[in-house]
Amino acid sequence: MSGTGTILEAMLHAGIDVALVASDRRCRGLEIAEHAGIPALLVDRVDYGGFSKSFDRDGYSEALTKVLQSNNIDLIAMAGFGTITSGIFHDAFPGRVLNTHPSLLPDFKGWHAVKMALDAGAKESGCTVHIATEKLDDGPILAQARVPVLSNDDESSLHERIKEVERDLYPSVVGRVMASLSNGIEPSELREEKQ
Ligand code: GRF
Repeated sequence: MSGTGTILEAMLHAGIDVALVASDRRCRGLEIAEHAGIPALLVDRVDYGGFSKSFDRDGYSEALTKVLQSNNIDLIAMAGFGTITSGIFHDAFPGRVLNTHPSLLPDFKGWHAVKMALDAGAKESGCTVHIATEKLDDGPILAQARVPVLSNDDESSLHERIKEVERDLYPSVVGRVMASLSNGIEPSELREEKQ
């Protein structure tokens, strides 16, 4: 994670067994994890070129992979993770990296999804929980929920209403994925849930 960590809080409230929290920068999510007694690890982008053009994406992805592997992590739920990880990472956890995104994918990919929906005059937006791949905000969809765009919405009000929905939807999907994995069913075998 990289953001304010409200989705992590929702996971913890929902009773999701979070073994480790990893972040690409100092952020509130690490503090939430520490407070909850969960190992909180900073794999800092700054050590791999930060946000410059020389950012070593493969080096960063390898470091993140090693940290998670050495902690025996077998399911990853990204929540506002602000670094696109390369194939190295996804190959190490095939089909086991989940993501939530504040739009109805495949519409409006990327970090500014909420603003893009507003700028496009969308009448509704929402959130998508999907299996993450090397491609940005791509991969099989596990669940989507719709949120109306109100006439007086700005980016922050719309994003907050979407996050309210994400805080319900994402923990419920992660719970379903964990239950399925314990029965030997991979996330890619699950059917999409429409809400
Ligand atoms: C969520 O909207 C997520 O979809 C997006 O970043 C936000 C993270 O929210 N990628 P928070 O930092 O957990 O509050």
